[in-house]
Amino acid sequence: MPLARALSVALIGLDGHVVEVEADLAQGLPGLTVIGLPDAALAEARDRIRAAIVNCGLAWPQKRITLALSPAALPKRGSSFDLAMAAALLAANEAVPARSLAGRVLLGELGLDGRVRPVRGVLPALLTATRAGLRGAVVPGANLAEARLLPDLDVTSVATLADLVGLLRGHEYETGETPVDVSPDAPGPDMVDVAGQVGGRTAMEVAAAGGHHVFLLGPPGGGKTMLAERLPGLLPDLSVERALEVTAVHSVAGLLPDRQPLVVRPPFQDPHHTATVASVVGGGSGVARPGAASLAHHGVLFLDEAPEFGRGVLDALRQPLESGRLTITRVGGTAVYPAHFTLVLAANPCPCARAETCSCPPDSRRRYLSRLSGPLLDRMDLHVHIPALKRADLLAEGGRGEPSADIAARVLAAREHAAVRLRGTPWQTNGQVPPTELRKRWPLPRSTTRPVEDAVEKGLLTARGYGRVLRLAWTLADLAGAGRPGVEHVGHALGYRIAQNGQAAA
Ligand SMILES: Nc1ncnc2c1ncn2[C@@H]1O[C@H](COP(=O)(O)OP(=O)(O)OP(=O)(O)O)[C@@H](O)[C@H]1O
Ligand SMILES: [Mg+2]
Ligand SMILES: [Zn+2]
Repeated sequence: MPLARALSVALIGLDGHVVEVEADLAQGLPGLTVIGLPDAALAEARDRIRAAIVNCGLAWPQKRITLALSPAALPKRGSSFDLAMAAALLAANEAVPARSLAGRVLLGELGLDGRVRPVRGVLPALLTATRAGLRGAVVPGANLAEARLLPDLDVTSVATLADLVGLLRGHEYETGETPVDVSPDAPGPDMVDVAGQVGGRTAMEVAAAGGHHVFLLGPPGGGKTMLAERLPGLLPDLSVERALEVTAVHSVAGLLPDRQPLVVRPPFQDPHHTATVASVVGGGSGVARPGAASLAHHGVLFLDEAPEFGRGVLDALRQPLESGRLTITRVGGTAVYPAHFTLVLAANPCPCARAETCSCPPDSRRRYLSRLSGPLLDRMDLHVHIPALKRADLLAEGGRGEPSADIAARVLAAREHAAVRLRGTPWQTNGQVPPTELRKRWPLPRSTTRPVEDAVEKGLLTARGYGRVLRLAWTLADLAGAGRPGVEHVGHALGYRIAQNGQAAA
């Protein structure tokens, strides 16, 4: 059998392609040539494969060996092809039966000693394999729990290349099971810790119920950061479908804990204001890796001290806010990652960040906030002023607020109301519904929408702001258990849009 094949998967973003590894052994000067690997890491695979085979006590063929990965034009990155390359070579050398490789996808990096190391992106890679009709998979032990998320696939894990050989020879084989930790996640920060700030707390509840973006503005120490950090705790668990989407992104980023393969809680990402564009929206060499915006998919992206972020970062967020995804082109290909998140921006009104003692001229305050562009602020449905905390608030109720669990129950009920209305549409929350669709499908009487129309007339609200106010009004109605917004919900929503000083927020 001088020719043999094994299968693996190449990922470009979350998009996978089955890769065929062909091994050919021919007479001639002994050596190993690899074709179809543009990436430097893959060239190193040659050395790893040779060392692993030899160190497992297997014969290295004294032949002219060619390993070809196809399609050749497909960009291939990383070390996850090692296992398939080694298997094809061993099958060509008749160390394992070639038919044992049929219909099976192999993922894994080889250590020089023959150990099989975990790789990124196992979940999206195996999804590709199942869609291509493959029924079996071999993965590193540390990736087994993640691979088992796909029930239709017959998955085996191997700890070493010797294990793989045993498996392919059909020996009785004990799979190296990594125990899955089923203990619930440690609870995140709780709203019970936030004293006072009734307005801020309600705004977070509304944001959670409708998936609306929030802009928190206020002096230092009022609890803006505290409030933002507690938003994920108000959100329901992810559905299985969404959990798989989020898990796939985290898997490609190499951020899945191996004992807890499925991300079931909405993620929270809070990049620092010195973060680069690449770290927020994704990037890196070769094929782009997901950034914080994609890691926050179906969760919360929090930009604390938002005006301090680089202009490039803030501008780059417009694409995901518009489309719910990020398309990043690098030499290695164009990666598309989902990035549908609730954005929370927090800012001090002034660069000096001194509440009472601030003596900055109004001009410098205005300049500071104007770093947040109009188009960005326009997408924030909830503009909330967080005042400095009063002593009385800290003393009242022992400085304790309503616990997150109670708020989350109302959020869930509101989301269920919205889900009934949105059944059969592509949207799950009010925040996702395009304002034009909202007005077309669920029109409201003039008597209800009058406050918004008046605001537009007075120049306090743009036409775009109009639709966004109505969207928010639907969430307020869902929270109140009303069938549809009344004039009070519309008025309340408008209040979130128009800043405290009476200036138009949009
Ligand atoms: N509403 C509150 N209830 C209880 N503690 C609070 C509250 N607000 C602030 N604190 C206390 O002050 C600390 C700072 O709060 P936090 O960072 O959330 O404020 P901030 O508004 O984000 O301020 P800054 O603008 O300086 O970032 C908290 O760790 C907490 O100890
Ligand atoms: Mg803060
Ligand atoms: Zn100041």
